[in-house]
Amino acid sequence: MKVATHHLRCTECATVIGSDEVSSNFRCPLCNGLYEVLYSWSNGAAGPDSRLPNPSALRWLWQERRSSTMPIDQSGVWRFRDLLPIVDDMEKVVTLREGNTPLYDLPRCAKSAGIDWLLAKHQGMNPTGSFKDTGMTAALSVAAQRGFEWVACASTGNTSAAMAAYAARAGLRSIVFIPEGKIAWGKLSQSMDYGALTIQLKTDFDGCVKILGELVKQFPIYLLNSVNPYRLEGQKTPAFEMVEQMDWQVPEHIIVPGGNLANSAALGKGFSEMFQLGLIPRRPKISIIQAEGANPLYRWFIDSNRVMTPVTADTRATAIRIGNPASWRKAASVIDNLGGWCEQVSEQEIALAKAQIGAEGIGCEPASAVTLAGLKKLVALGKVTREERVVLILTGHTLKDSAYTIDYHRNELFLEAEKKQLSASEQSEHAALRKRPIVLDADPSVVLRTLESHMSQPQPA
Ligand code: F0G
Repeated sequence: MKVATHHLRCTECATVIGSDEVSSNFRCPLCNGLYEVLYSWSNGAAGPDSRLPNPSALRWLWQERRSSTMPIDQSGVWRFRDLLPIVDDMEKVVTLREGNTPLYDLPRCAKSAGIDWLLAKHQGMNPTGSFKDTGMTAALSVAAQRGFEWVACASTGNTSAAMAAYAARAGLRSIVFIPEGKIAWGKLSQSMDYGALTIQLKTDFDGCVKILGELVKQFPIYLLNSVNPYRLEGQKTPAFEMVEQMDWQVPEHIIVPGGNLANSAALGKGFSEMFQLGLIPRRPKISIIQAEGANPLYRWFIDSNRVMTPVTADTRATAIRIGNPASWRKAASVIDNLGGWCEQVSEQEIALAKAQIGAEGIGCEPASAVTLAGLKKLVALGKVTREERVVLILTGHTLKDSAYTIDYHRNELFLEAEKKQLSASEQSEHAALRKRPIVLDADPSVVLRTLESHMSQPQPA
């Protein structure tokens, strides 16, 4: 008889079901809650059938796999497969060698935020340019091994890019639902490039989710939105990778952008599992940052009654233009259990932070830059202290939304009325970062004169 490697537990009513008993919308039939993947060793449970992994052996094994030539070992997700045994045949996982993303230091951003030590885990360095790949390799491998022909997601652009790529690798057919006119071109082009059936719906992300929710009840389509708990199993692995990169030191604070709110939940699960298994001695705080125009979790956080009220979302950081986040309860319990915070940041603060990250040679998409903007606020509030080690999760690559970057540097991103709201010092911060392209006649003397005037200016600090 085959022994189950995992079960699914409802995060609301705690009902546990077998992995093949879950309904097509991944909701608990009793309370509509979302599931999480449960292993025999979850929550430190060392029951009679629990095969509790040994921390030293795991660390050694994960390091050893780095020198292997097997695709499954080269994947920065499946290298940690001992903690995500979710597929029957590990040799057949669908991988683009995701994960293995760099951890950069950001000394100038640290200074601007008022702290000594700041790192960025750049999940935009994944194969399709966003953190979604780590979750997609996991959930799509499950879909493939369960024999689905069609997979689908609603997306603000990155999930769809990742899903389309992994589906193409696996030879599955994919359907993407995106809000028309509200996603960055780079992301739209990816789902087309990878051969997805791309449907632009005349609604927002939340509207796309609703439509897809109806469809999966009627057609045998495997849902790959982050309500699918297997996505989170992949998305928890950057937590493992990060502490491994830090020689098993745990940072004090992780800062994550918040949209549909699965990523913060996934990282929280990753840190909690490492803590339960004795891989790390404590867990970091996880704080979540939202854009002011798409801030339902922030509203919940500051509400003394802690009521979640969906909003109609609007922000230029289109990746997180989400008003009714599916995983808000999971994210909320990460904040509560790990002691983090929730903040909101303005459009101007996001743009400034993005330019500052870019100016360090790193670059990211606008939704990722909310982390630095939020960090500044957390420092000002005393929630992060100068000596704390902070890691920003940069979720997407700068080339995902190059139109935003070009508009910013041409000073065309904001309306005149918005520009007028800035103080003189804020305006000069933006002006120092803005690098408008210069159009010149192809005349050496003209070019030389222009260069001379630029070279005589001091290098910004
Ligand atoms: N950053 C980027 C670049 C994203 O694409 C997303 C979400 C987030 C942050 C927020 O992560 O939803 O887990 O809180 N993008 C989704 C998509 C919704 O469809 O690509 P979250």
